Amino acid sequence: MDRLLITGGVPLEGTVWVSGAKNAALPLIAASLLTDRPVELDQVPELVDVTSMLRLVQRIGTSATHVGGAPGRIRLHTPELLSHEAPYDLVRKMRASVLVLGPLLARAGRARVSLPGGCAIGPRPIDLHLKGLERMGARIELVDGYVEARAPEGLRGAEIEFPQPSVGATENLMMAAVLARGTTRIVGAAREPEIVDLSLLLRAMGARIEGAGTSVIEIEGVERLDGARHSIMPDRIEAGTYAMAAAITGGRLEIRNAPLELLGAAREKLVEAGVELVETADGFLARRANGILEGVDVMTRPYPGFATDLQAQFMALMCVARGAAMVTETIFENRFMHVPELVRLGARITVHGGSALVRGVERLKGAPVMATDLRASVSLVLAALAAEGRTEINRIYHLDRGYEHLEKKLAAVGARIERVP
Ligand code: UD1
Repeated sequence: MDRLLITGGVPLEGTVWVSGAKNAALPLIAASLLTDRPVELDQVPELVDVTSMLRLVQRIGTSATHVGGAPGRIRLHTPELLSHEAPYDLVRKMRASVLVLGPLLARAGRARVSLPGGCAIGPRPIDLHLKGLERMGARIELVDGYVEARAPEGLRGAEIEFPQPSVGATENLMMAAVLARGTTRIVGAAREPEIVDLSLLLRAMGARIEGAGTSVIEIEGVERLDGARHSIMPDRIEAGTYAMAAAITGGRLEIRNAPLELLGAAREKLVEAGVELVETADGFLARRANGILEGVDVMTRPYPGFATDLQAQFMALMCVARGAAMVTETIFENRFMHVPELVRLGARITVHGGSALVRGVERLKGAPVMATDLRASVSLVLAALAAEGRTEINRIYHLDRGYEHLEKKLAAVGARIERVP
């Protein structure tokens, strides 16, 4: 298994290009199952999760081909569905596989999708996906660890209210509703920018959707959808991570292909912590405003709140800030697995339930650590970049799931980072 060796203490300087967003790419690939016409996606990031999703749709009947030699441009074409199944071995590795449920039910009236089971950051149920589909007329049974869903007469529009916003459930139901009979209203929908990106592709395919990006989404079903071409939005989590890499190393990075407003609530928190963010033509500059980082409290919330996917990285930053910071996680139950690893690097952190109190230290020190999930892993990379001496990060396959060419991008801006088998 590969490891990363990082020798910290080098301020990062230069330009980083942000890739297409993983969390937009996965639902967009699933959406291509809704039509028998070709769908072309640009800015598809080269990531293990994307490969897993492509493998899944290929099993279902999609041909996926790279177009015109352009990296990141993929043509997806599903003339007919050859299978209705998302098997356990794929769903277990990547929860987002459940996003084929809505499209399969909508197009074929049936789907068999493995339950995802537990994952490193908590139980993560899919009850909201299933209840919503039932409201739309699907009959759902749980058999041998699989969700077996049927809608022989097709799905019908419905009023669906979520008790709490779920990104995946909102996406799954949007994709189911675009081909349903009548109008669907999703109330309490998640408002993440990736949902807007999905609505843009679906609308380009001929779907009728209003309100994506707000908490009420209205979808009027249509008979059939056409092909379309769509460029995937930039990855806001990756952009935020590199902004924090500049700040934690005391360097200066120009982050391109990512408008500053993409950072959302993280932008205000970074500025409060003493990070200067200056807009440029196609991105922004990030560096410390006056050399010192200040401790700032954050609490993760559904969009437009502070993203849970940036929590671990922000905590790494707070490890070297002046004063204390309270980092509170409200979205996932078990998302502090980076804490003991950061502590190994010399951080002072105490966890009380869903909150971690971080007391800033002068310097972190390199040590061997272990990556546990995607965002936790990258927080260790950030900490290692700032630490004195050498850090060895084990189990880095998590990073390959979600950060395109991470070592290359970091090495190009001066990081001493090496992947060893
Ligand atoms: C998506 C993102 C993930 C991000 C998360 C929250 C993708 C591929 N993944 O995950 O990176 O961390 O949003 O921003 O886009 N819940 C239920 N029942 C359900 C569904 C969700 O109780 O049926 C709960 C979850 O356990 C969690 C909360 O709702 O506590 C939010 O989860 P959700 O927004 O669904 O996350 P994902 O779509 O899985």
